[in-house]
Amino acid sequence: MKTIIEPFKIKSVEPIRMTTREEREERLRAADYNVFLLKAEDVLIDLLTDSGTSAMSSEQWAAIMRGDEAYAGSRSFYRFDETVRRITGFDHILPTHQGRAAEHILFDVVCKPGDVVPNNTHFDTTRANVEATGAEAVDLVIPEGREPRSTHPFKGNMDVEALERLLSERGREKVPLCLITITNNSGGGQPVSMANVRAVAGVCRRYDIPLYIDACRFAENAWFIREREEGYADVSPEEIARELFSHADGCTMSAKKDGIANIGGFLATDDARVAQEARNRLILTEGFPTYGGLAGRDLDAISVGLQEALDPDYLEYRITSTRYLGEHISREGVPIVQPPGGHAIYIDAAEFLPHIEPLQLPGQALAVELYREAGIRGVEIGTVMFGRRDPDTGDEIAGPMELVRLAIPRRVYTQSHIDYVVEAVLNVWRRREGIGGFRIVEQAPVLRHFTARFAPLNGAAVG
Ligand code: F0G
Repeated sequence: MKTIIEPFKIKSVEPIRMTTREEREERLRAADYNVFLLKAEDVLIDLLTDSGTSAMSSEQWAAIMRGDEAYAGSRSFYRFDETVRRITGFDHILPTHQGRAAEHILFDVVCKPGDVVPNNTHFDTTRANVEATGAEAVDLVIPEGREPRSTHPFKGNMDVEALERLLSERGREKVPLCLITITNNSGGGQPVSMANVRAVAGVCRRYDIPLYIDACRFAENAWFIREREEGYADVSPEEIARELFSHADGCTMSAKKDGIANIGGFLATDDARVAQEARNRLILTEGFPTYGGLAGRDLDAISVGLQEALDPDYLEYRITSTRYLGEHISREGVPIVQPPGGHAIYIDAAEFLPHIEPLQLPGQALAVELYREAGIRGVEIGTVMFGRRDPDTGDEIAGPMELVRLAIPRRVYTQSHIDYVVEAVLNVWRRREGIGGFRIVEQAPVLRHFTARFAPLNGAAVG
């Protein structure tokens, strides 16, 4: 059979509500053109994120009922601990309420002002948490990873030579750890090859620097390795995942992605000293080390979800359905980051709207337009998210790329929803010349994209 279907049937449904164009126009104005400030009930197809938005399975809901809410030493924790150890192989597992809490605790333990932390590409919270310790976050993705049109099969790979250069220039004592993000979310949801992880681990070992994996989408990355890397076609995703983790000293994880859970995460490490210090901080900010800011039932849902995320039927459907969206818009000319990523399609807004300068926020304009057109919510990953103010002149500096991410929640939307998204993107594509830019009228000093307020530039076509 050629058709790859959703490998599940639907037991519980959640209605979504159509809105009129006038209603959407009004909602956009009320939200100051920031799609984060829209009410979810006014969004028809919500592609803001794949994080915490998954549909849980009947087994996960059953696990929720088995949740043991003991404050210390709950059965839920031991089931969670067993699953995470089996998949990652790490010795010490600390549950956290989500991924950034694991990042915060880890960096707080190992980083100090003046340090530098390399990564293929830091996700925004990861960068912010590194910088909050006074350390510098450096992105070392391979050059192909910065070129939207390159079809390199592992565009998430780290530039190993650049890593060596950084280590020899800065010295090992300035680099408390090296990170690698699989898949590379901010670089287009692109995978990292096993060979690259192995090479990065080799360099880290030579310099005696621990390697931590930002493992949010480890299962999707494992599937890409199986599809694209020689020698893995017959290896199970679980074995590939285990091999990936075997090259590292620990990981941070947001279970809201490949844990297919609505909340949760963990920090895992082989380093007993880091684990001990992290546990002390965990108690301060998250909770006792056997629940870490989660209910026992959440730990059980994650434990089942991690396992389901490694199911080959699920992964084949997952990666194929994301690719379906990418291929159907790109073959009509819509510029996207190629090849399609695992959890999301990234539209290249700079090329989609070439008449809008980066500082006039083409990604923001496109995100607004998709909502206006069809009630679809994506997210800008461009100058709003990664642009900066020059600390000396106060001038705005554009971000490295101008993307709009359409992230696909796991097991939530069907093929007809995705067909609707394709149609909407193509409608906007056909009238792209009439779309105008935006300016920021209010912003927070860090992670400004969440709360910034925008105004259309003069002359911008509305509707
Ligand atoms: N690392 C990566 C690569 C991520 O994509 C995220 C979250 C995190 C860390 C932080 O995890 O949200 O559980 O605290 N990414 C979400 C997204 C928010 O929409 O891509 P968290």
